[in-house]
Amino acid sequence: MQGSSTLIAAQMAGEMRAQGIDVIDMSVGEPDFDTPEFIKQYAWEGLEKGLTKYTPTAGMVDFRSAIVEFYASRFGADIKVAEVAAACGGKQALFNAACTILNPGDDVLIPKPYWVTFPEIVTFCRANSVFIETEDTEFILTANQVADAITDKTKLLIINSPSNPSGRVIPPAEMRQIVEVCVTRDVYMLTDECYLFFAYPPAEPFSLASLPDDLRDYVCVAGSFSKTYAMTGWRAGYTIANETWTKAIVKLQSHSATHPTSFVQYACAKALRNPTETLAAVGAMTSEYERRRDWLVPALNKVQGFRCPMPEGAFYAFVDVRGLLGERYGSSSDVADVLLKEAHIVVTDGAGFGADGYLRISYATSMANLHRAVDKMNAIFG
Ligand SMILES: Cc1ncc(COP(=O)(O)O)c(C=O)c1O
Repeated sequence: MQGSSTLIAAQMAGEMRAQGIDVIDMSVGEPDFDTPEFIKQYAWEGLEKGLTKYTPTAGMVDFRSAIVEFYASRFGADIKVAEVAAACGGKQALFNAACTILNPGDDVLIPKPYWVTFPEIVTFCRANSVFIETEDTEFILTANQVADAITDKTKLLIINSPSNPSGRVIPPAEMRQIVEVCVTRDVYMLTDECYLFFAYPPAEPFSLASLPDDLRDYVCVAGSFSKTYAMTGWRAGYTIANETWTKAIVKLQSHSATHPTSFVQYACAKALRNPTETLAAVGAMTSEYERRRDWLVPALNKVQGFRCPMPEGAFYAFVDVRGLLGERYGSSSDVADVLLKEAHIVVTDGAGFGADGYLRISYATSMANLHRAVDKMNAIFG
């Protein structure tokens, strides 16, 4: 396995800052907002109630039923508590789901550009990543692309919409067709819904957990509190999958992390049971990301050699910098290097996401930083 290239970029930014350099970190994959105060208070409450001991491996029933109720009220989903398992963040949810469905030698479809962790998990399972090119459809996966890629060896399709790194969102109707193709061809799906709520109008949050049972039977939703509620450090996530898959996930987790922190589960359950305040907090953060996107993407498109379609979700601009490649820069990694050395701007090279020639630029940073960064980019590239 390879180390996470996104974490390496973040580490580099930290090291430069420690040397006293004024870094503009646009490599970040986490909200620049603090966790909403009322959710912190719920965690205190959990501690005061003495929730400091082990919980069931699948998570507290209260945590799992809060997820069931929240998905029912927000998405009209009809899921059972037995189909939900708590995990230490979306990453562990994905890991649990992949490790319990894959056998060595299975093929796993992963659309490009992909989140860096997907192929690494597949490698860990001794399965094979088979990548689907989506550049022709501006990085939005289609059911036809999936149908063309499936073979007898295909066991799983991993999707992530809104996408890290592209910010693109697969429209719900297309998503449903993708699931139908998978079900017809006996292929499971793992959907990483980490950025679920960061879909900007007219795009809307859409969860595969809301599908009818016959389709959902093939789907595992990996959910996370990290980005939606600005809770990256809390390590809270979950899977929603059929009961058999969930039992296997819980068995695996009983030999690894056991469960996410007890009072974190308590705080998450309380937050979900207070949808008015919680969704208002999420809405405020989403609107701020949208405001930044609306300023940043047109500004990036004016930088010489940059091209960036409007992302519908997440908090990343995925910029095609192939217009700059030639004598001066051989690759997008060279462009990222120049930004780092000449402007102290940290961005992530697209190569780690399977998209050489692109840069991922996070706008989970202040508007002032976005302005400074674009000024510096214009000064370098014209
Ligand atoms: C696409 C995607 N999935 C999952 C995660 C994992 O998030 P966490 O483990 O903090 O829930 C991230 C974090 O960067 C991500 O970008």
